[in-house]
Amino acid sequence: MEMFRLDGRTALVTGASQGIGEAIARRLAAQGARVILASRNEGRLAALASEIEAGGGRALAHRLDLASAEELPERLKALPDDWAEVGILVNNAGVTADGLLARMSLEQWQRVIDTNLTGTFVVTRELSRGMMRRRHGRIVSISSVVGLMGNAGQANYAAAKAGLIGFTKSVARELASRNVTANVVAPGFVETAMTGALAETTRARMLADIPSGRFGLADEMAAAVVYLASDEAAYVTGQVINVSGGLYI
Ligand SMILES: NC(=O)c1ccc[n+]([C@@H]2O[C@H](COP(=O)([O-])OP(=O)(O)OC[C@H]3O[C@@H](n4cnc5c(N)ncnc54)[C@H](OP(=O)(O)O)[C@@H]3O)[C@@H](O)[C@H]2O)c1
Repeated sequence: MEMFRLDGRTALVTGASQGIGEAIARRLAAQGARVILASRNEGRLAALASEIEAGGGRALAHRLDLASAEELPERLKALPDDWAEVGILVNNAGVTADGLLARMSLEQWQRVIDTNLTGTFVVTRELSRGMMRRRHGRIVSISSVVGLMGNAGQANYAAAKAGLIGFTKSVARELASRNVTANVVAPGFVETAMTGALAETTRARMLADIPSGRFGLADEMAAAVVYLASDEAAYVTGQVINVSGGLYI
């Protein structure tokens, strides 16, 4: 039998409108999951949903703003009935608001913590209830090697990403007996529009720190998510899988 199939599962991916989240959504759909694409940009989500459906997959665009914690429970209850039983949650949405500590405003700090950490907490709390009831669930959160190593200019982002790891380990302990796992994927530098736009000297400096000698691909992050979402990973919980070409060892 083919491994890592996700037929019959419904997945919800936050931040699915571009980058790593888009790659995750495409991969989950290719493995047979029905995928709810969730973020703020409904136009992009709808276009991606159409593309996935045209390729024979199943996808639904659903507007969700992680920065509005109070609205999240209502927005999740607004999912159509036949999409409401989410068995795979991928907490991927994330923002940065970089600055050195001495000049970092409270607003910069709060914006990153709100979206990356508080939003993830609320979505996970809401969707884990059904997972516990159904005795099956997979929660995968996208952190960063920065959450493990720190990064000058990203104290807010590193705090949020490290927070996701502590959050996940606690959730893993709480939910394991219900057959719900919670794990983290920690990407290193990933080839995205953002890293593509970097100056050549900056790119070269970053590359020098990566033993594999190249940036990662969004699809390589998605492959780790597929594994953790699969039945084959049922006994893996509370773990951090670094997908960083050895940047963090
Ligand atoms: N790229 C890297 O090198 C790298 C490395 C390590 C970790 N990561 C992490 O991987 C994840 C994805 O990164 P990426 O590079 O693909 O980022 P990206 O291209 O900037 O995409 C971020 C995604 O998050 C969504 N998002 C932002 N704010 C949101 C909000 N308030 N509510 C809902 N969705 C929101 C965006 O969708 P909308 O604009 O449609 O809302 C977008 O789809 C992030 O958590 C990031 O921290 C990235």
